[in-house]
Amino acid sequence: MRQPFAITIDGPAASGKTSTAFQVAEALGFHHVDSGALYRAATAAALRAQPGGGWDENAVLAAAEIVVMQARKASFTPLLGGKEAEDEIRGDTVTAQVSVVAKMPRVRDWVNAQVRSLADLHDVVVDGRDIGTIVLPNAGVKVFLLADGHERARRRLLQRLGRQGTTAEVEEEMGRLAKRDALDAVQTVPAPDATIMDTTDMSQAEQVRQIIDLARSAGAAS
Ligand code: CDP
Repeated sequence: MRQPFAITIDGPAASGKTSTAFQVAEALGFHHVDSGALYRAATAAALRAQPGGGWDENAVLAAAEIVVMQARKASFTPLLGGKEAEDEIRGDTVTAQVSVVAKMPRVRDWVNAQVRSLADLHDVVVDGRDIGTIVLPNAGVKVFLLADGHERARRRLLQRLGRQGTTAEVEEEMGRLAKRDALDAVQTVPAPDATIMDTTDMSQAEQVRQIIDLARSAGAAS
């Protein structure tokens, strides 16, 4: 049997990794794996178990036992206690806490083991921060997405509110993203062999097309 093919898409918050990874996976007939969703699911589970926060690593890992990855369309998504919890894991409370949980080494090991076991079995497009460096260093294609802070804030608000943010809302969102970028900086480093794509002035369709071209040139079947 041939080795499964892996594409990694890393980059800072709201750089467009998740939606791009999903579309690339759909176009190539691969599975999308969102590693950030696993950190978010662990955080949501910890919040359910102890809403006040202040958990240690053991408490997060114990709570995260309710998290199971399930294939849905082109994606593997985390279920919490057997149910989808997309709004909960993308909500403000989880977003404000997730970077603290993502600092815990055994939580990182827990996420990495799940991503690697999916990549052992399937052709995957995995998005995150350290996928090309730490999690799947032998991936066939590695991409690191960048976009300037103002554009990332604008896109995140459009996604969340379904409309353009006001100037004040964009500035507030830029502050939130900068805070998360600082907390996530250690693990958000491009692999030396990654293709860096600045998407500030690029359409989503264009970035998807470029990654598909990279994958085809690297021998990914579709
Ligand atoms: O979508 P967004 O860029 O807002 O973030 P995400 O991909 O959903 O990831 C949520 C959080 O998980 C990040 O802020 C990081 O703290 C953490 N994360 C990480 O540390 N390493 C990864 N490979 C993926 C996510």
